[in-house]
Amino acid sequence: MLEVTRHSVKQRSDLTFKHNKSLGRHGWLRLTPAYSVKLVKEIIARFPPNIAILDPFSGTATTTLTAAEHGNSALSFDINPFLIWLGNVKCRSYSSDHLALVQDGAQQAIARVPALMKKDNWTPRLFNIERWWSADTLQALAALRTGLVEVFGEPAKDRATGLAWVAFCRLVIETSAAAFNHVSMSFSSETIDHEVEHVTDLYLVILDAVLASSGTQLRGQGAVVAVDARAIPEMGRRFNLVVTSPPYPNRISYIRELRPYMYWMKFLEEAREAGEMDWKAIGGTWGIATSRLNEWGPNGKVLPEVLTDAVGRIAKSDGKNAQLMATYVLKYFYDMHLHLSSLPNVLEPGAELHYIVGNSSFFGNMVDTPAILTASLLMLGYENTDSMVIRKRNCNKALFEYDVTARWPG
Ligand SMILES: C[S@@+](CC[C@H](N)C(=O)[O-])C[C@H]1O[C@@H](n2cnc3c(N)ncnc32)[C@H](O)[C@@H]1O
Repeated sequence: MLEVTRHSVKQRSDLTFKHNKSLGRHGWLRLTPAYSVKLVKEIIARFPPNIAILDPFSGTATTTLTAAEHGNSALSFDINPFLIWLGNVKCRSYSSDHLALVQDGAQQAIARVPALMKKDNWTPRLFNIERWWSADTLQALAALRTGLVEVFGEPAKDRATGLAWVAFCRLVIETSAAAFNHVSMSFSSETIDHEVEHVTDLYLVILDAVLASSGTQLRGQGAVVAVDARAIPEMGRRFNLVVTSPPYPNRISYIRELRPYMYWMKFLEEAREAGEMDWKAIGGTWGIATSRLNEWGPNGKVLPEVLTDAVGRIAKSDGKNAQLMATYVLKYFYDMHLHLSSLPNVLEPGAELHYIVGNSSFFGNMVDTPAILTASLLMLGYENTDSMVIRKRNCNKALFEYDVTARWPG
């Protein structure tokens, strides 16, 4: 069982994204805030087969893919266009003809690279790009990208050949100086010069691995759609189980880690767009998203008392930007409250909810995420609320991950 008592809680890397690396499609691209397939499987296994599963915060589509592998029908929401694209590529079934077509197309693209190396190819306008790739590596990546576009079309436009682009995304990370083993991504002090032949060979190795894990047919169905979880509309479809991991109130921006993929895939072209996108993300804090908080207020909305208490304590602390951080926490839970109020539009009566979330701390003031979410759930008419610690997130601080559960009446 997942439950553990708080004093005996361990970090449990098997319950994080690290567990997914070797699990076929789940391991294609890493997003450190992704949760573990194992966790999702354990929850799904407690329910009868053929229930409909929803993940309103898709990320890398761990829930939806796990559910589709298990034989369920599942849907996820996200607001990030790259993650929506990636989730759909991961959750599709592919014929052997399709895999052969991608393999063949990749060979054609690579055959064009020597001629393309003599040209001035498009490169992304990623800030400080020289920290990510040396000039030579960048030139080789850009030539390969142009070759792939000539054969397959731009990734954001042509969804059918997504597998070739997933392999390219993995390639840009493997050849970069970024270390993606922790949420606070770091860079090596020096970039490495990768010869063009090495770049194209590595691309083929990665593509082989991606294609090898794409052949298995999914038993169920999964898809990811663009829906803002703060305003879920009625969709003519309802779900029996919600398994999700929303952002945590800890100022981590998914955009930060996703930037290289998003720029190379042209889901992002200007730095300003990243801040705009993060303003829509719950807990988003990139660029303009933080400065906008100064003008933001909850507009008289009645929110749980336990939240207003926590926000008051943070605002009174003597840390730098204490008021701004208090507003950040308030906006995070305000957005989660909006989410939980629109969720019943897609819930079957009796639906069960599992929210994997973390607590946080601002200037020594603990933000008790499970208690605040539980208060929101109860205010909004959910019942059977509960929460349990599932793992410790950090070796020094009292930061934990919880499974917050509830039931929609019916
Ligand atoms: C913690 S991640 C989910 C990780 C996921 N469980 C996985 O395994 O990859 C949270 C996700 O919520 C998405 N998100 C943030 N605000 C959102 C909103 N308003 N509507 C829908 N999705 C949102 C983010 O883009 C991010 O992908």
